[in-house]
Amino acid sequence: MSQFRPLMPLKALLTGDKGVLLPLSAKLTRLYGSFRLPKAGSPPYVFSNFVTTLDGVVSLRTRGHAAGGDISGFNAQDRMVMGLLRAVADVVIVGSGTLAADSQQIWTPEAICPELASEYAHLRKALGGSGPPINVIASGSGSLNLRLPVFSSGRVPVVIITTTAGAKRLARQRIPAGVEIRAIGRSGAEIAASAICSEVCRVRGVKRVLVEGGPRLLADFYKQGLVSEQFLTLAPQIAGRVEGDGRPGMVMGKVFAPRNPLWGKLIDVRQGGTLLFLRYSFA
Ligand SMILES: NC(=O)c1ccc[n+]([C@@H]2O[C@H](COP(=O)([O-])OP(=O)(O)OC[C@H]3O[C@@H](n4cnc5c(N)ncnc54)[C@H](OP(=O)(O)O)[C@@H]3O)[C@@H](O)[C@H]2O)c1
Repeated sequence: MSQFRPLMPLKALLTGDKGVLLPLSAKLTRLYGSFRLPKAGSPPYVFSNFVTTLDGVVSLRTRGHAAGGDISGFNAQDRMVMGLLRAVADVVIVGSGTLAADSQQIWTPEAICPELASEYAHLRKALGGSGPPINVIASGSGSLNLRLPVFSSGRVPVVIITTTAGAKRLARQRIPAGVEIRAIGRSGAEIAASAICSEVCRVRGVKRVLVEGGPRLLADFYKQGLVSEQFLTLAPQIAGRVEGDGRPGMVMGKVFAPRNPLWGKLIDVRQGGTLLFLRYSFA
């Protein structure tokens, strides 16, 4: 399996010269190449990262095979990029569906790519960050198991963004130390992505917000024009679909084209073996 192979450098096919050059270590520079991000400030830089098959499937929706690893083939270079993007983020946001599909996950750089833990830590420190990125879980219903590692391990600070009804439901469980619950939505309603974002950005020093999905949460962020850049790994796999199997694409639950199409601009392309690492600007 590719996760046991040594990490190989990405080959840059298209790179831009806009933005601020980040102080990657020599090892990360060798593996990823140079890395620029827009100057972080106010409003914060919101970016997303997904992996998709050639036919646009982001989850196989099959028991034990619902998470992103099955899409990338557990690709080590994809893990390296995921770790890098988490390392530069102050906050990583996911919806409850993504947590349910990968319930043992914690959204830190070293959790996804442990072999580069010290490189990521060095980068975070150089960017002025202290500790891991805050993990934000969006759940209108509040149907979350607070015994899962993301909440109970104490390894990350967690903010749950929910509704008043969701907060009431969560209060029936013991709230672990380091988990904060913020009720900002009406009961039963979808919480506007802009409200999620401003709640998250009330935390001092939050300048870079990474949305790792899933498709329904990301759709809300696109609907409100909040996503500046999309990182997208293209894995050379055809997953297939049949009517009603629920296999999602990267954005679900909202329709944009043809009335309101969202066109991105391709700003970066890197090749890692048979995978392509794409980056689009929606600014
Ligand atoms: N390939 C990839 O890169 C990638 C990346 C991420 C996820 N995925 C896959 O995508 C699948 C999950 O898809 P999904 O669309 O269900 O994921 P999701 O967006 O993470 O979860 C949807 C749930 O999150 C909550 N939520 C989302 N937006 C909300 C909002 N604006 N306000 C309040 N609550 C909100 C709701 O939870 P409540 O029902 O609790 O209210 C909603 O039912 C998984 O299989 C996962 O592995 C793949």
